Amino acid sequence: MRTVLVLNGPNLSRLGSREPDVYGTATLDDVRAACAATAAELGLAVDFRQTDDEAQLIAWVHEAADGRLPVVLNPAAFTHYSYALRDALAMRTAPLVEVHISNPAAREDFRHTSMIAAVADGSIAGFGLGSYLLALRAIAGLLPRGG
Ligand code: DQA
Repeated sequence: MRTVLVLNGPNLSRLGSREPDVYGTATLDDVRAACAATAAELGLAVDFRQTDDEAQLIAWVHEAADGRLPVVLNPAAFTHYSYALRDALAMRTAPLVEVHISNPAAREDFRHTSMIAAVADGSIAGFGLGSYLLALRAIAGLLPRGG
């Protein structure tokens, strides 16, 4: 069974209480549980992680590249300015889908730029927790059959 790394960047541990009008009331544990359920339906395993630390996130991206692991990534604010994260992701060896809970295109100007989008297979934004589930389905579609 293929494992998908679901990686979450800064402040996403605060989901549930963080700006609920923007991000909803689901907690990161709710996201984790929903991802596990959808992955099981798709015949995938999920390794779900969160960090506020850019270096840690980059280390996980290197781990994914070395292990040929597909990645669903919510880079959070790193999306908008981390050249280092983008460079790490450019070394990927398996599918990558960028996700956002909110729709950054409908928010402040600084959120309209993604450093990540150009090195991802695609981006899914604006569907709340559902963005992750759509991303897992996209990953499943990108993986070779039986692989
Ligand atoms: C976010 C959108 C980013 O602009 C923001 O910095 C986040 C969360 C989202 O999931 O909607 O932290 O990635």
